[in-house]
Amino acid sequence: MFKSYRKAILSVALLAAGTTVLFAEGASRTYANGKKVIDGGVTYPVKNGMTSLYHVNEEAHKAHFKLGRPATPDEIKAWDIDVMPDGTGLPEGHGTVEEGDEIYEEKCAACHFDFGAGGAGYPALQKGNAYEGQKSLTNQRVDGNDEGPIRVFGTYWPRASTLWWYIKTGMPHPHPMSLTDNEVYALCAYIISLNELKIDGEELDEEYELNREKFLKLEMPNKDGFVPKIDGKNGLENTRKFFNDFTNYGIAPLKDPKKRCMKNCFKGKPKLARISGSGISDYIPPISNKKELPKKKEGAGAEHPGKKAYEASCAVCHATDAMGAPVVGNKKDWEKRLANGIEKVYHNAIHGINGMPPKGGTSLPDDKIKEVVDYMISQSK
Ligand code: HEC
Ligand code: HEC
Repeated sequence: MFKSYRKAILSVALLAAGTTVLFAEGASRTYANGKKVIDGGVTYPVKNGMTSLYHVNEEAHKAHFKLGRPATPDEIKAWDIDVMPDGTGLPEGHGTVEEGDEIYEEKCAACHFDFGAGGAGYPALQKGNAYEGQKSLTNQRVDGNDEGPIRVFGTYWPRASTLWWYIKTGMPHPHPMSLTDNEVYALCAYIISLNELKIDGEELDEEYELNREKFLKLEMPNKDGFVPKIDGKNGLENTRKFFNDFTNYGIAPLKDPKKRCMKNCFKGKPKLARISGSGISDYIPPISNKKELPKKKEGAGAEHPGKKAYEASCAVCHATDAMGAPVVGNKKDWEKRLANGIEKVYHNAIHGINGMPPKGGTSLPDDKIKEVVDYMISQSK
């Protein structure tokens, strides 16, 4: 996004508590249908029937705030780290699937699991239980299930550039910006191969070496299914058409294509068996016969009834202290909470407290939440 107003003059104002505010100056005020789109010096110009990025009228801000200074070229450079679908911001580099596999195991598998299977609150990086031959992969469901695709890179993301940028700037989670450009290319190659995507009609085998040029040729299956084309003459029509087709965001049933399907929507078998809990149960066919699948813990006995729901809905915040939540496995954290009595802890889990959303954002019944809390406590002794 930043690129498009590079031409603009930028000024930086440092406000209290170190907050940085950028003001960008647009060329002139622009009106859509004779109306200014947004007031307060911000306008969305309309060009060829399309709304473009906003412009901020610096004069208006000067008059109001009387503060700020032009951003230095280095400040702009530090901000300007986007990677765009057209290749802007994407550096040269290279890496093979095999190299990516090794880096992945060392730096990513701890959270994203073997083969990018995800689980325990960490997003999957492979397409998982998406079906073969699925027409559209856009899906409004938050969680994947056996009926449809899940919101992962391979099936949901419309542009590959985001993958490169996301890994480079955000991963591995505890040490962002620690990977070299070549390592990021290798990881992208590995993740693209996990998702069975082709580049220029070619599958990515272990020796495949990805580089900038090849990366830019990767077309995502969901490139046209992510959002309807809302701009231009046919914008309204396109939008209607998009939302009338349930396969664009839900799954159309076998019988009545006008009704959204909740059950038994597909004939045949999913290509991959369900991914559950902390790993992959079984692949049909196996993605790789070289690696061992994650081992189940031995002697654990019957699974605690709260375990699954904990992993699906609570681990994302409770597995680490990143969110300020009591960490499952940390005895002290839980002793503190339990000092108020178990009923209070149940109550807070059900009704929420500070950063803890009511029922952890789920709609599970109270009894189930208590069961999950019991599980969390049982793991923290
Ligand atoms: C300490 C745990 C951790 C490690 C290690 C880690 N990640 Fe992540 N990763 C996460 C979390 C948590 C998210 C979700 C962040 C969010 O949604 O805000 C995520 C998200 C992602 C996403 C976006 C997925 C999506 O569909 O939204 C990608 C891609 C990714 N990680 C790649 C990597 C790669 C490659 C590595 C190794 C270099 C790595 N991660 C290491 C925790 C981790
Ligand atoms: C969005 C992040 C988030 C999710 C998801 C989440 N929690 Fe929490 N939880 C928190 C935070 C943050 C706290 C600490 C709140 C505080 O006391 O300030 C917390 C606190 C708690 C506590 C301690 C309450 C007390 O009495 O101190 C329990 C129990 C709990 N969560 C259970 C759950 C359960 C069960 C789920 C899943 C159904 C869940 N949480 C999902 C963030 C989360």
